[in-house]
Amino acid sequence: MSKARLDGKVAIVTGGASGIGEAAARLFASSGATVVIADVQDELGQAVAASVGSGRCAYARCDVTDEAQVEATVARVVAAHGRLDVMMSNAGVLLPTGSVMDMDLAELDRVMAVNFRGAAACVKHAARAMVASGSGGGGGAIVCTASVASLQGGFGPASYTASKHALLGLVRAAAGELGRHGVRVNCVSPGGVATPLSCALMGVGPQELEAMTVPHNVLQGKVLRADDVAEAALFLASDQAAFISGHNLVVDGAITAVNPAVLQTVGL
Ligand SMILES: NC(=O)c1ccc[n+]([C@@H]2O[C@H](COP(=O)([O-])OP(=O)(O)OC[C@H]3O[C@@H](n4cnc5c(N)ncnc54)[C@H](O)[C@@H]3O)[C@@H](O)[C@H]2O)c1
Repeated sequence: MSKARLDGKVAIVTGGASGIGEAAARLFASSGATVVIADVQDELGQAVAASVGSGRCAYARCDVTDEAQVEATVARVVAAHGRLDVMMSNAGVLLPTGSVMDMDLAELDRVMAVNFRGAAACVKHAARAMVASGSGGGGGAIVCTASVASLQGGFGPASYTASKHALLGLVRAAAGELGRHGVRVNCVSPGGVATPLSCALMGVGPQELEAMTVPHNVLQGKVLRADDVAEAALFLASDQAAFISGHNLVVDGAITAVNPAVLQTVGL
């Protein structure tokens, strides 16, 4: 099978200044796309874009919690490049909202505002642009970064789990509605990756976090990194996934496929 490519395509990656989004922005650009990183970390975003190269990658400040900013970012990309082919809605936060019994509801609102409402704004405005420019044939691909927390509890605080479950619902609903326009909508759902998001929650550095989590993995001999998630997102964004829509592509080394504790108990 040939490697997935995005030659000639125009892509937005939200949360592309850091972590999984940065890896995706770099991979999309090296796979032929023109990429716009949409983030709130201006210095970091500009530095990533500059290191990719000005012809291939640009930075745009865009707070996804503000629908007007999302709409304006999509409009600017379409004005500059003529269309939008790929939206990777990846910006996310993980806040220590505490146990369900003493959950801070203001923090729950903040998590939902980025992880769910922000993604909804990205899906909405990307879909509008894709449908408008694809009216003569074409389509588009929307890839949302969900999480293993879109499928199970226990991978993070309840606020985060709820936001990712909601995001998966949005993706499935959008895939249903947008299919008639040829627009595909999918999720990529990583297990734990040592990024600023996960390291900040645990209060440790990337190496320490990996040392803590790797022994609990089902798939041994490998460590999940942002680049692995970016490869899955590239596949979903590319024409190689031409008939894949409404799918939740889990990148977790089977952690949600089995119960590791039961596996150990039954001696397998
Ligand atoms: N790291 C993990 O273990 C893991 C696992 C599963 C899913 N995810 C998901 O992956 C995505 C990327 O997270 P990451 O781990 O790379 O973390 P990260 O902190 O490295 O990157 C998140 C990016 O989102 C940006 N962002 C946050 N709020 C924003 C807003 N309002 N508007 C625009 N940009 C905003 C941040 O500035 C940052 O650049 C998130 O959706 C996260 O939930 C992460």
